[in-house]
Amino acid sequence: MWVVYLRLIVADDYDDMSRKAASIVAEEVRKNKKLVLGLATGSTPLGLYRELIRMHKEEGLDFSQVKIFNLDEYVGLAPTHDQSYNYFMFHNFFNHINIDKKDVHIPDGKSKDPEAFCRDYERMIDEAGGIGLQILGIGSNGHIAFNEPGSPADSKTRVVTLSAQTIKDNARFFRDQNEVPKKSISMGIGTIMKARMIILLASGKNKADAIAKTLEGPPTVNVPASLLQKHKDAIIIADKEAASKLTGKY
Ligand code: PGA
Repeated sequence: MWVVYLRLIVADDYDDMSRKAASIVAEEVRKNKKLVLGLATGSTPLGLYRELIRMHKEEGLDFSQVKIFNLDEYVGLAPTHDQSYNYFMFHNFFNHINIDKKDVHIPDGKSKDPEAFCRDYERMIDEAGGIGLQILGIGSNGHIAFNEPGSPADSKTRVVTLSAQTIKDNARFFRDQNEVPKKSISMGIGTIMKARMIILLASGKNKADAIAKTLEGPPTVNVPASLLQKHKDAIIIADKEAASKLTGKY
C-alpha cells in the first residue's frame, strides 16, 4: 500500500474549473507578493489566465513582484513563432497583467547550447528560491509538461522527444502534423516535484483515462502525473468530464 496525498476537486465544467484554480492562485499571490509561479501552456489553463487577467483588471490583483518559470518550449521555435509557448504566454497572459518582463522565464527553443541552457534554468529556479506554486495540465497519455511516459521520476530540465501521441494531440495547432516540433525543452518530473504546491488542471473526456490512472492507479513513471500522489501539497481540479472514469476507490 502507498500513501496518497493528492487531493481532487471536481468542478462542474471548464469555467468552474478555471475559476476554482484562479481563486487558489490569487490567494497565493495575495499571501506572497513575491511568489515564484510555475506556469503551463495548452488549451486547459487558458480559462485560468482569463480569470486572473480579470482579477488583475477589476480587483487589482498585483503581479508586479511575481516571478514566472514556464514548464516547456518547443525546440526550434523562436519566441515570435505563433505556436511557440513564449508567444502563447505573452499573448494570452503576460501582456494583460502587470508582470515585470525581466521576471518571466521561458525555456529558449532557439538556444545554441540547449544542455547548458537547461542547467542554467535549474540554477535560476533554485536561485529564485524554488517554485512556490506550479500549474500543470495533463496529456491524454498522462504526461506532465513534456515528461512523456517512462520519464525518470528524478528528471531535471532537459531536451526531450515528444511521443507520437503528443505530436498527434498537438497537431490541431499546426497546419499539418509534420510541422509539430519533435523535441522540446521541458522541466523534469524532479523539477516539478520540488514545487511547494501543485495544481493540475484537467478538462474534457479526452483526459478521463489519464485522470483515472493518475488518481486510482499505482504511482508509476508510465503515467507521469500519477507520481504527484507522492507530493505533499498537490491538488487536481478536474471538470466532470475529466473525472468521469473515476470509480471513487482511491
Ligand atoms: P492541453 O494540453 O491543455 O492543450 O490539453 C495539456 C498537456 O499536454 O499537458
